[in-house]
Amino acid sequence: MLNDIEEVLVTREELQQLAKRVGKQISEDYRGKDLVLVGVLKGGFVYLADLMREITIPVDMDFISVSSYGASTSSSGVVRIIKDIDIDITGKHVLIVEDLVDTGLTLRHLKELLSTRNPASVKLCTALDKPSRRKVDIEVDYEAIVIPDKFVVGYGLDYAGLYRNLPDVCTLSPRVYANKG
Ligand code: IMP
Repeated sequence: MLNDIEEVLVTREELQQLAKRVGKQISEDYRGKDLVLVGVLKGGFVYLADLMREITIPVDMDFISVSSYGASTSSSGVVRIIKDIDIDITGKHVLIVEDLVDTGLTLRHLKELLSTRNPASVKLCTALDKPSRRKVDIEVDYEAIVIPDKFVVGYGLDYAGLYRNLPDVCTLSPRVYANKG
């Protein structure tokens, strides 16, 4: 697996530092409020796990699962809910936690969906941001690490289901894509 890496774009240390800063900010912003973190599966679980351990106020959490790109590296623009959250978010402050915002279609859809359930607020938080790829006007509410328009894996992000377990955010050698045909 390590042979497939072309370049490390974001190190595990940078990601840990990000989680610390954002976790501290969230703890300040939501003090005294009912906060629910909603992790977006599958990729969002790694950042969610790091982030929630940096949050120092009581926090509930749940997961939502949406369709991924499959083996393709470009967005279809189609967002399908595979697993919904189980908890009632009425009157609660919701923070959606995702690995990466790319076109913004996924997060826009999720924000709209959860906003229909009468929460007190819905905000967005991602570890990574590819602003050059944005198709819809969407605001990510917390600091994210900006990366160039390259397909990346690791820290929860996959290619064809693999590489989510890489601790750093990396690009893959062109050989990997060539082998997939
Ligand atoms: P968006 O809807 O285009 O913003 O894309 C959101 C999701 O697409 C991300 O949360 C990822 O799961 C996936 N995605 C976008 N870019 C990449 C990438 O470079 N590598 C792996 N997955 C990606």
